[in-house]
Amino acid sequence: MKSDLVKFREILSQLPFDKYWQIGLETGELLKSIIIENKFSKVLEVGTSCGYSALWLIEALSMQEKASLDCIESHKERNTLAKNNIALVCPPNVVCNVHLTHAPECFESFNSLNYDFVFIDATKSQSIGIFDALYPHLNPKGIIVVDNVLSHLEKMQPFIDYLKENKIDYKLHKIDAGLIEVVKN
Ligand SMILES: C[S@@+](CC[C@H](N)C(=O)[O-])C[C@H]1O[C@@H](n2cnc3c(N)ncnc32)[C@H](O)[C@@H]1O
Repeated sequence: MKSDLVKFREILSQLPFDKYWQIGLETGELLKSIIIENKFSKVLEVGTSCGYSALWLIEALSMQEKASLDCIESHKERNTLAKNNIALVCPPNVVCNVHLTHAPECFESFNSLNYDFVFIDATKSQSIGIFDALYPHLNPKGIIVVDNVLSHLEKMQPFIDYLKENKIDYKLHKIDAGLIEVVKN
């Protein structure tokens, strides 16, 4: 039987894509499986829009005894929507905070950037700055997943070049918009 969270997520998936840019189903499954398999409990999402992808993260985190999710969304209306949507389904064992702010500048005011898992789905040209601010603080064996590397290849090429130049190994997932997965070593 589908949980309320899954039913609600399906409703959010029907919202217009050209307004909210929800991730695809396979991407959601990938994010969920990474969190569950690694028993990650401290997660950050950069680029939350209406909260659709956050609900995949929350579903995975709900299986932990205690977990937290920070979401960053700089657009006021989408931020409010995400806050409301997340509040409706977030279980008590997952502490969710939706921040109305802009990455990467906002990280300077964060108390800790020691995340287990980060999902970056924000403005493509800011990928390097956001990754660069987060990767050094990521917990050992932590993972960063970046979306749209195939759908926005031209805009994402500098990010791919940056990974290569810095000898940061990555795995390319050729699903949906194309994702890069980096494991902290
Ligand atoms: C592709 S959408 C995110 C879709 C969402 N992850 C989902 O699948 O439901 C990108 C969102 O990131 C926000 N955004 C873009 N760049 C940002 C930044 N640097 N800091 C915070 N939010 C940002 C935009 O306002 C937009 O709502």
